[in-house]
Amino acid sequence: MKNKSLVSITDFTRDEYLRILELAAEFEKNPRQNILSGYVIATLFFEPSTRTRLSFESAVSGLGGKIIGFSESASTSASKGETLYDTIKMVSNYSDLIVMRHPLEGSARLASEVASVPVVNAGDGANQHPTQTLLDLYSIQKTQKTLDNLKIFMVGDLKYGRTVHSLLMAMSQFNTTFFFISPEELKMPDGYKMHLDQKGLEYYETNDFSEYVREADIIYMTRVQQERFTDPIEYERVKNAYVLRRNMLEGTKENMKVLHPLPRVNEIHTDVDTSPQAYYFEQALNGVFTRQAIITSILGIK
Ligand code: CP
Repeated sequence: MKNKSLVSITDFTRDEYLRILELAAEFEKNPRQNILSGYVIATLFFEPSTRTRLSFESAVSGLGGKIIGFSESASTSASKGETLYDTIKMVSNYSDLIVMRHPLEGSARLASEVASVPVVNAGDGANQHPTQTLLDLYSIQKTQKTLDNLKIFMVGDLKYGRTVHSLLMAMSQFNTTFFFISPEELKMPDGYKMHLDQKGLEYYETNDFSEYVREADIIYMTRVQQERFTDPIEYERVKNAYVLRRNMLEGTKENMKVLHPLPRVNEIHTDVDTSPQAYYFEQALNGVFTRQAIITSILGIK
């Protein structure tokens, strides 16, 4: 993994995922160590973020590294028309690793080709969010004690949801059975279903999950992302299509956990928060340890 960019979850192998998860478990036991002293990590966020940016920054700070960067492009020379190509060329000179979120699909791949240091994709449009996936894998393994042979329900915006796209690609390495629950307008794109067909994996599509929910090991809720819609009327029509309430979890498996990459809007009612099946806040905390594992692996420190 040394010096390797992480643009798509498919840039890493199954063994590399497992290595990251082992390291994340080590960092969870000891998240404060001075092993990034002298390293500079750039966090370039051209799109809003709370968890991804702050958990990267917390991860680096906990290991003694320095952070440079920005949380909105309005304060940078991009607002004067500087290209992404030039911005990445510059930031390569100032840092040892670049973490970037950008609204355009493919922007992270471009950055990785231009940069002289590794690039970690922190989300590129509706395409991929690989570090979210690694923390999701960590959360699934931690709660289920395995990644193999699980039933994962993906609910909500499966069309534009980059987190479900990356998670599907990763979990397809572990003989997962998928249930896709979405409104017609937000179905999982055909390319991802073709990938499952090629791997011989089972998946089911429905717009009503109450019938199957007792089979779930993981319910992965997602937000309907207003920012991806060009037609506000279409967003209004689907925005509250799925709202998970505590009474809907009755009869589900004991090991079952509800995950969500967050932020949520309405799709998980707050009455779920106190349920033993709610795991989304712990999931976000796992992001710190997983990102420590990713950064130190890519820098060749671990
Ligand atoms: N999960 C996630 O990407 O959250 P943020 O948008 O707050 O970073």
